[in-house]
Amino acid sequence: MSGKLRPVGSRVPLPTSSVMSLPWERFYVAEYTASGTEALAMAVSIAVAGNSKVEQPEVIIPGYGCPDLIAAILALDATPVLVDLLPDTPFMDDTLVRKSITDSTVAVVGVGLLGIPERLSLLAEICREKSIFLIEDSAQCFPPFSTEKPLADLVVLSFGRGKPINLMGGGALLYRKNLSAELRDVLLQFPKLPQTIGWGWYLKRFIFNLLLTRYGFWILEKLPFMDVGRTRFNELKSISRLDLSLSLLNAGIRDYWSRPLLYHRYTRELQFLEQQGWRLLDTRTYGEFGLADSNPRIRFGVLAPDMVTRNKVWKALNASGIGANALYEVALPYIGGVDQALIGTDLPVAHDFASRLLTLPCHCDVSDSDITRVVNVLKDECAV
Ligand SMILES: Cc1ncc(COP(=O)(O)O)c(C=O)c1O
Repeated sequence: MSGKLRPVGSRVPLPTSSVMSLPWERFYVAEYTASGTEALAMAVSIAVAGNSKVEQPEVIIPGYGCPDLIAAILALDATPVLVDLLPDTPFMDDTLVRKSITDSTVAVVGVGLLGIPERLSLLAEICREKSIFLIEDSAQCFPPFSTEKPLADLVVLSFGRGKPINLMGGGALLYRKNLSAELRDVLLQFPKLPQTIGWGWYLKRFIFNLLLTRYGFWILEKLPFMDVGRTRFNELKSISRLDLSLSLLNAGIRDYWSRPLLYHRYTRELQFLEQQGWRLLDTRTYGEFGLADSNPRIRFGVLAPDMVTRNKVWKALNASGIGANALYEVALPYIGGVDQALIGTDLPVAHDFASRLLTLPCHCDVSDSDITRVVNVLKDECAV
């Protein structure tokens, strides 16, 4: 047994004594939260408060994504409105975004997927025109795109497992410095939890990091009750702020910036796939994101020509010890536990995207020989 390379996840750092400036400080103020989902719920609560005349607020989100988006919106008694994607991209179709906006819409959530930020300039233009909030969900991208260009009114970060900065939980809501005092005060209704970094935390960190090793992950995946890799909808039952340890956050950010940009090698060596109907989800493909091209990524996404080919390669990579996976596998309404009422939503492109997406590991423990193995498996499986 040589273990298995996990699909995603960075090791939890140790708190550091040195403090650095945080990437968002120029334009945004941070309120730390117990999770990314809770940060999103707080963002929605601000958008709802900012449109207090709306009786049944609606929030626009993409039709492919994390079910926590739905949980955060429902927790505020708002209605999620799902919008389909542009073909072969993780981006919402902007024509459909415009069409989905009603008098009840209070916000659009632009969600970055696998390190690729949404097209925030375009979404910001739409939101400005319609006087609604733009929320950047940057749980999967660090730093948020808005820290360079303050396009979003509110930005969401997650420090959970499988995220760019893994602190074993926590998140942040960033609000623009010019947000009115009245709307800032909305946050005060949420209780603030302490964060204790004591021996219990160190023990949890030790076990957590052990499970990220090749042997640890191999064992974890064999435990049926752990249901590793399965995404399910979980209702959001409480929303709290968190007194996050800044020395831990600083350590996480430092560790993040020290990671190699492995996906550049994937981009170079997997070019041959494009001639065979695959599509690499590379920031360079999407012009506006030059900035994000020098940020470490959590996974590298590829779109197979069809579901059968995706499933064949997915199986072959896992059989060779590489934890490739299909992320959510299905469009948002079809994730287990999501409100059945959403199932009728017409999302042909999101379904197609879900059926073809494969993610390749891109974390700090991916070695040169792992990438060579990934490339060789893809060459063998896709030989014409
Ligand atoms: C895009 C996105 N937003 C929000 C969340 C929720 O973050 P958390 O797990 O910290 O609640 C996730 C989690 O996977 C996510 O991928």
